Amino acid sequence: MRILSVVGARPQFVKLAPIAAAMRERAEHLIVHTGQHYDELMSDVFFQDLGIPAPDFNLGVGSGKHGKQTGTMLAGLEEIFEEVRPDWVLVYGDTNSTLAAAIAAVKMHIPLAHLEAGLRSFNRRMPEEHNRVLTDHAADLLLAPTEVAMRHLSNEGLADRSVMVGDVMTDVLFQTRDTVAARQDPIYRGLAAGEFYVSTIHRPDNTDEPERLKQIVSELSRLDKPVLLLAHPRLRSLAEDHGIALDDGALEVCEPLAYPQLINAVQNSAGVITDSGGLQKEAFLLRVPCTTIRPETEWVETVTLGWNVLVSKNLDELAAAVQRKRPTPTDATPYGTGQAAQAVVDALLN
Ligand code: UD1
Repeated sequence: MRILSVVGARPQFVKLAPIAAAMRERAEHLIVHTGQHYDELMSDVFFQDLGIPAPDFNLGVGSGKHGKQTGTMLAGLEEIFEEVRPDWVLVYGDTNSTLAAAIAAVKMHIPLAHLEAGLRSFNRRMPEEHNRVLTDHAADLLLAPTEVAMRHLSNEGLADRSVMVGDVMTDVLFQTRDTVAARQDPIYRGLAAGEFYVSTIHRPDNTDEPERLKQIVSELSRLDKPVLLLAHPRLRSLAEDHGIALDDGALEVCEPLAYPQLINAVQNSAGVITDSGGLQKEAFLLRVPCTTIRPETEWVETVTLGWNVLVSKNLDELAAAVQRKRPTPTDATPYGTGQAAQAVVDALLN
């Protein structure tokens, strides 16, 4: 069986890693990189560190407004799908690369599988919410990471096409955690364990409005420990445009980290402050308290189990949330035990 994975943005490379490994000797697996992310630290390092085979195709679309970026991918993918004629197109998560590949595949009557199906924020301001809803409704096979995601799919009349496989990011996280521990990697910048926070901010709702970004930066700068701000290129360029200094007070601005370095930094941190989806879950899996600067989350289990607190409107509550008492320990496994990629391949082969 020939399976074609389409990826393009940083979190998709992380999800691709365990899938590519699980495909070995079970299916013919080809990879298309749309080129949505292209900086070395946003793309190449993930392929190297996570042992992902080099993409068979790279569309090199780069950055752009939603319509142009998605449309350019759509046109390029159609040609590749014509050439490869896969038995399945496999798409990941909720980026513009996901949606472009979904549209291209269904218009060509190629079976489409969506990994990380059924997540919902119910926030229609997020481009990702549209990407994931449209992709789920187009897909022939919905590979859901959690029971909550399965419930959303069922509520939308999609239960017949849905399979619960678990979360593939859990697979790669546990493997990387063990590798980093075995190598005894030093902590980034020689920091002492428990004496710093890790932060990432990149969502348009937090970065595009200068007053809001200014307030987030100001709240972070006043925290009681150094804050490693792993700056997405979008954050850097918008802060510069708005004249906002990112290296204020407690803040230490750094490049985005490679995946093993990120996991090592998070595991040794006193807490995570983020608007990323993946990082909320990674913090939970490493049992590090997380504070999420968003009004809602797709990974609701992190909140109900007490390891994630949402702060959005009242940003002056951020410091108290970050510096809160450590949550009650839990051994719950809402994201599975790290075997999801094999379940994905089983579902595709069946
Ligand atoms: C995209 C996804 C988002 C995901 C995030 C992970 C969409 C709509 N959004 O957001 O769901 O959480 O990836 O990081 O698909 N840029 C660079 N170098 C790069 C990539 C981007 O400089 O390698 C800059 C460009 O100025 C670009 C901006 O970052 O315009 C935004 O990139 P884009 O891919 O459009 O969206 P993300 O914010 O990364």
